[in-house]
Amino acid sequence: MTILSIDNMSVRFETPDGLVQAVSDLSFSISAGETLGIVGESGSGKSQSVYALMGLTADNGKVRGTASFHGENLLNMSQTELNRIRAERISMIFQDPMTSLNPFMKIGKQLSEVLVLHKGMARAAARMESIRMLEAVRIPSAKTRMNQFPHELSGGMRQRVMIAMALLCRPELLIADEPTTALDVTVQAQILALLRELQAEFSTAILLITHDMGVVAEMCDRVLVMYGGRKMEEADTDTLFSQPAHPYTQGLLKAIPSIAEDMHRLPTIPGNPPSALIDEQGCPFRERCAHSSAVCGQTTPTAVSISPHQLAVCHEVAVTRAGVTSSRTERQVVQEL
Ligand SMILES: Nc1ncnc2c1ncn2[C@@H]1O[C@H](COP(=O)(O)OP(=O)(O)OP(=O)(O)O)[C@@H](O)[C@H]1O
Ligand SMILES: [Mg+2]
Repeated sequence: MTILSIDNMSVRFETPDGLVQAVSDLSFSISAGETLGIVGESGSGKSQSVYALMGLTADNGKVRGTASFHGENLLNMSQTELNRIRAERISMIFQDPMTSLNPFMKIGKQLSEVLVLHKGMARAAARMESIRMLEAVRIPSAKTRMNQFPHELSGGMRQRVMIAMALLCRPELLIADEPTTALDVTVQAQILALLRELQAEFSTAILLITHDMGVVAEMCDRVLVMYGGRKMEEADTDTLFSQPAHPYTQGLLKAIPSIAEDMHRLPTIPGNPPSALIDEQGCPFRERCAHSSAVCGQTTPTAVSISPHQLAVCHEVAVTRAGVTSSRTERQVVQEL
């Protein structure tokens, strides 16, 4: 069952240097219990896409399109309506736990207040439930930790507290923006395993932003690849890794280090990321793409369905797959994914 469906969402900022188009015409959906990964290099619009959903776009930004959460459009909700949904049904974990945790308030109070405020729980019950949730995220001596301040915990522990806080109200959707990037590999693996377990227990859908294809392979059912604020490819994880269709995805996958190969240098995608200053026409990847032709600079490509599990937004793919391309619209393809 689809719980969130995003249609033609764009995020644009006004800056002293001109308009910055951070996200363009983005459409995707996520179903209950599913993990959808969003990948793409720095500046490709991953964070701004989810900030827009959460009403966290900076004041100089404008969001267009729709983001239908159980039929209600998140993008035109009042702050009051959004606050209710944000705390209870959609929650978010950030890369840096200190953005969500109050440094001056004890862990226990921060957690229990969420339940008192949003679930109307009595203090004692909220405290018990908070301890239970800290135990669920494997915080040792949870009762003692309740009386500590965030700075008294290690980075990995703080990340766990943030996950506990995000899951307290049993949200249907958890948005995680690079949740493990700041952590060392062992702690990262533990946190990811924990997220998977909690997802199974609470059947939470997870929208996971990462630039780490290893994390994608381990965690995600489906993947959305972004470049220059646009979707380049969308596919189930196995298909994306075994048959990447878009030249950008192919480049991303080639850049993954492999212990089997003895490489001194990783292959990189030549060229620089596009300037995000407004450029409505053409494919944003064209200047770095080995397959680009004149049409790539003239018109923005639309989604091509490669199979029921894969679509790519690319002129070259459209031409080479012309024989197998059906006339389904992008929306139909997205719904089938
Ligand atoms: N308030 C703002 N004003 C102008 N431009 C902005 C603003 N906020 C973000 N941007 C621009 O939006 C674009 C997309 O940024 P975003 O943070 O979504 O990238 P990202 O894919 O999350 O990158 P990273 O992997 O580094 O986190 C960038 O070019 C960024 O500079
Ligand atoms: Mg980001």
